[in-house]
Amino acid sequence: MAQPTGMNGPRKLYVKSYGCQMNVYDSRRMADTLAPEGFVETTQIEDADLVILNTCHIREKAADKVYSELGRIRQMKDAAAREGRNITIGVAGCIAQAEGEEILRREKAVDIVVGPQSYHRLPQLLERAKRFGRAIDTEFPVEDKFDALAQPSKDSIRARGVTAFVTVQEGCDKFCTFCVVPYTRGAEMSRPVAKIVDEAERLADAGVREITLIGQNVNAYHGEGTDGRTWGLGRLLAQIAEIPGIARLRYSTSHPNDIDDALIEAHRDLPAVMPHLHLPVQSGSDRILAAMNRRHTRADYFRAIERLRDAQPGITFTSDFIIGFPGETEQDFRDTMSLAADVRFVSAYSFKYSPRPGTPAADMSEQVPEEIKSERLLELQASIDNIQAAFNRDCVGQTFDVLFEKEGRKPGQTVGRSVNLQPVHVDAVIAPGTILPVRVDTLHAYSLFGALADTSVPRHQNEALAMAGV
Ligand code: SAH
Ligand code: SF4
Ligand code: F3S
Repeated sequence: MAQPTGMNGPRKLYVKSYGCQMNVYDSRRMADTLAPEGFVETTQIEDADLVILNTCHIREKAADKVYSELGRIRQMKDAAAREGRNITIGVAGCIAQAEGEEILRREKAVDIVVGPQSYHRLPQLLERAKRFGRAIDTEFPVEDKFDALAQPSKDSIRARGVTAFVTVQEGCDKFCTFCVVPYTRGAEMSRPVAKIVDEAERLADAGVREITLIGQNVNAYHGEGTDGRTWGLGRLLAQIAEIPGIARLRYSTSHPNDIDDALIEAHRDLPAVMPHLHLPVQSGSDRILAAMNRRHTRADYFRAIERLRDAQPGITFTSDFIIGFPGETEQDFRDTMSLAADVRFVSAYSFKYSPRPGTPAADMSEQVPEEIKSERLLELQASIDNIQAAFNRDCVGQTFDVLFEKEGRKPGQTVGRSVNLQPVHVDAVIAPGTILPVRVDTLHAYSLFGALADTSVPRHQNEALAMAGV
């Protein structure tokens, strides 16, 4: 039986995230919820009394990684058991939701399986595992898990740094034909504005300067406003921008179909809303977009980009692409290449299509051979890398604001981020949370290096680049 005893001081918790930003956020909230139970976090898996793997089901590779990690953990658990020490193993996240009991069958070392909508019940699950050996919870409960989660202490917020995620929306009703998220995260729900503002205020109070509002479809947000009416993301951003201390706001992940006028106005009117947006497109071909059930065309995507550029000149974009979706021809792929070149994404994630059990695309005929997927992926990545490298080179010689986050690798160095999320290193000791203008003088790989600039009028990075004709 595998329950930490707590005989020798606080029990140690090791949580590892495999997934998206929401998965990372969930890991933190699991740690917050276990803190009042006497668990402290460790970064060393060998020291842990409780190991939680917070899993991702989005592509086959992500899922495979977890099972091989569980094999290693089983050996660690067996070795500890021989020394009389119990380690409890939990599998959380989207694989837990999708595979449930199957995980318990496949891996005997696992004690607890908990889905993304039930992790607020972790303390009870630990108790059940202690009594009955193993416990599973993959319900979509009616109660609001956010209400049941413990709030992090000021110290733990501080330890996590000056940037933070806040989940505002969860789940997805869009059912793109390749995607497991509607099944693992369930239907779309939005948290009420007051709860989000309360969480953001706590973060700001503990020194957080930048908040990223997250959701599987964050711009489909439609939560209860403070006036009892339904608010969209634009209005929510305006409310959070009022919180003293919050200097930068981002949101992710957006869908091109949910960009309403209020969101455009937020980009136009709120200086805190960063001019840098992740807007996944998946493909540049209308035929493939239709087969993916994205419900927008290539032209719609360009229109969305144009509206955002009009509202916030200099705004930059990043994206996600799926290469080798069933039926993708050479011409479809050319359309994707040309879309990427036209928008000039400053970076992008691109993935080979991975058939996921239970999704419509997995059963489509005309699956694209693996070697063609690989070739196309390399070609797209090379093109995006070139654009990214050119963008980074253009930043050299420019002066713009950097939000400093932490000590750099070298003593006396501090590293921060530009509005475009590029790491910027400066040889100076600067308090985390400070925003100061930096003159960039060199570029190493993807990082910029520079010195504090003595301009009294700090300039916005994308304005500076626009003025330089980039
Ligand atoms: N809600 C977001 C994306 C969530 S999943 C959106 O609508 O854009 C994150 C990314 O994983 C997706 O943008 C997609 O590019 C990729 N992805 C999802 N399912 C995939 C699959 N079956 N194979 C390969 N990539 C996939
Ligand atoms: Fe998946 Fe599509 Fe929903 Fe994004 S919008 S989470 S890709 S189903
Ligand atoms: Fe993965 Fe679940 Fe996020 S499948 S991408 S962890 S929503």
